Parts: sequence; structure tokens; C-alpha cells
Amino acid sequence: MFSTIGRLVNARLAFRRVFSTGRSAVFQIESRLLDNRVDQQELREMVHRYDPSVPIERAITPPSSWYTSPAMYKLEKDTVFKNNWLAIGRKDQVKRTGQYFTSNVVGEPLVVCRDLQGQLRAFLNVCCHRGMPVAKGEDTVSQFDCSYHGWSYALDGRLLKATKMKGIQNFKAKENGLKPLAVTTWGPLVLVKMTGNSADVENNGLQLEKVETVLKQLDYDPDTEDIVFVKRSTRKITSNWKTVVENFSDGGYHVEVAHKTYTDSYYAGSTVRMADVNEYFTVQMAETNQNNPKAETRIGKISTYIYIYPNFMISRYGPWVETITLFPYGYDSTDFVFDFFLDKSFFQNKPRDEVRNFIDESVAISDKIQDEDDEICEGVHFGLMSSAYDAGRYVPRVEMSQYVFHQRLAKELRGHWSL
Ligand code: FES
Ligand SMILES: [Fe+2]
Repeated sequence: MFSTIGRLVNARLAFRRVFSTGRSAVFQIESRLLDNRVDQQELREMVHRYDPSVPIERAITPPSSWYTSPAMYKLEKDTVFKNNWLAIGRKDQVKRTGQYFTSNVVGEPLVVCRDLQGQLRAFLNVCCHRGMPVAKGEDTVSQFDCSYHGWSYALDGRLLKATKMKGIQNFKAKENGLKPLAVTTWGPLVLVKMTGNSADVENNGLQLEKVETVLKQLDYDPDTEDIVFVKRSTRKITSNWKTVVENFSDGGYHVEVAHKTYTDSYYAGSTVRMADVNEYFTVQMAETNQNNPKAETRIGKISTYIYIYPNFMISRYGPWVETITLFPYGYDSTDFVFDFFLDKSFFQNKPRDEVRNFIDESVAISDKIQDEDDEICEGVHFGLMSSAYDAGRYVPRVEMSQYVFHQRLAKELRGHWSL
């Protein structure tokens, strides 16, 4: 009995922490508590509407509510995005001591820096005083100075200075530092994890060494410095992040239809194939149209597209390594960050103008394809919002990757209630 009351009180407090708007009337809290319990029940039912145990030939996809419900997005924040390693930036952004970059993952402002001892660090980018971010954009500094009231933090997160504190009681500087996050690097990338510690990378479930094996077969060793960062571009679209993942990894099903102009000249017919599918990553490959010499210069003989759960993709084609990182900003909003890297050997013995033109042309093609993909993802999102659509079927020959993605999601979402 006491534990039941305790749970209710805790639920109430937790609920107030998360949802309270400052209104204090008890009846408001009680009714909202009731709403929350109903929401939890509805949410659980929503998660369980997808049955991951049904074979792909008979399976039904997750319902549209997985893509259109704010409660579902919050559940994903608390499970998928809190418990997995997430790619958030590049190692060259924090190469020198004092260098930092900021980011925002599912509403959590983050800062990654190289401290004065040369150690890589990541923190929630939130001042302990009133919550102002302590760092903006990217820069090189010797400490973080909050721009609101001037509190300062060392690059290892310690609070160094808090002004006009005379008279304050029970305040300990060491309890008011920046909140640290687990951080590591892989190839040219920086990964963070909101829960756990950096040692978790040994056992992170990403199976990055298997991705490395795939990449090495493609003449790209993520541990070498053989690629050079050349360009970053960003986008924001009105769509759920899962729709973007599904579009990227549908075994090329949409490519011949939605990117027809491009595929006719660049790909050798319907050649996209799934080379590997598992719950950590998927690998798709496509053969180049050998009749188009321009195609081979840009994308080589084979292009490879790797998706790494949950928010990260690598495309390897010709001299290019292109990474795409997804940053969800709600159930209906997703930011993309595209980083383009070129193989160092590509620059050798080439005039600067030729390299510049090649980069511009290649990035313009990527942009055009991405415009088409954005239109698809936004179109699908509006369709999912419609009463006409509830759930769909898988096309087993090409959509195994989507099926495995949904199974992995279902496992993590269901796990929320078994903690
Ligand atoms: S919010 Fe940072 S010093 Fe006040
Ligand atoms: Fe596409």
C-alpha cells in the first residue's frame, strides 16, 4: 500500500517536474496526473500495436501514431536517444586544446571540447545558475563564460567563478559544474552518449568494427587521416526522423522512381542491393552506369550507403565519403547535417580549379537528390497525419532493412516499461 502511494507521489512529482506550467491548484495536478496515467497506458498500447515477432511476409508496419504523436517522440528521447551512442560532430572540430563545438540532440543542448590537458570532453551546454547555454556555435576558448551573469566553467566542467555570492548558504562549487556526458571518437567523428560513461564504447552495441570492415573493403579506413573535410551543409524538414531513416534504407525501392533523372544516367539499371542487414547497421550497394564516364569519375564503380542506428549514415562513392547526421526536433521536425570528405589522393596533381569545380558539381548533384528526398519525406509525413492511413505492409524483397529497424525500435521502446 505504502509503495503504491509512494509511486503515485513520485509519479506526481515527476509529472510536475516535466509538465508543470506553474499552476498550483491541487485539482489541476490531480487531473493532469490522471491524464498522464491514461497517456502512459495509451502510449504503451501504441508501442505494442506493432508486433515485431511477425515475419516480414505477414508483418504490418508500425502505426502512423509512431510518427505523429508527441508522446511517442518523448518516449524515443528517453530510450533510443538517451541510451545509444550518437554521432554529433567531427573530430577536426575539436582538434586543438580549447576548441569546442555545440550541438542539440532531441532538445538537449550539448557542447564538446578539447580541454587544456588535451582530453576530449562533452557536457550538457546548460549553466547551473539559470540554464543559459554557456557556449555558442563553435570557437576556441580557455574557459566557458556564461553570457547571462558571468559564471565561468573550466573546460573540464568545473565551476571556476560565480559572482556576488556573498551570503549564499549550502552552495558547493563542485556540485555546480557542467553535467558531463560520455564521449568518444570513431574515424573522423565524435560520438556522445547521454547516459553511461565513456567505457561503454567498448560495449556500445554499434558494432563499429564491423562497419569498419565494410568501409575498409571500400578503400576507406576510418582510422587513417586519408580523407579531408571539404564542406558542410544543413537542412531542416517537416518530417519524423524515422521516415528519413526508412527512405535512406529501402533497398533502393524508391530510387528508380523518385530519382529517375539521376538513376538513368548514373546507375546501371536496378542494381541497388542489400549487402548486409542487422539491427546495428545496414549496407546497400549500387553499380554505376559504365556508359557514362562522368558517373564513374564522381561515384566510382560501386556506391555504398551505410545506415548506423539510430541517427547516422555514411555514403561512400568515388573519392567521396559523405556523412549524414539526423537531429530530431520533435515528432514532425528533423535537422540534417551533411559533411563531405574527399580522399586525399584525389587532390594529387590536380589544378585547384579542377578540384573546386568537381566539388561544386558533385555537391550540387547531392543537393538535387536530397531535394527530391526531402519532398518524399515531407509528403509521407503529411500522409501519415491523414485519417486515410493507419499502417502499411513491407515489400519483403527490398524492405528488410526497414523491418529490422522497426524491430530494434520496438525492442527499445517496449524496454521502457520493463525497467
Ligand atoms: S545563467 Fe549563467 S550565470 Fe546566470
Ligand atoms: Fe532517395
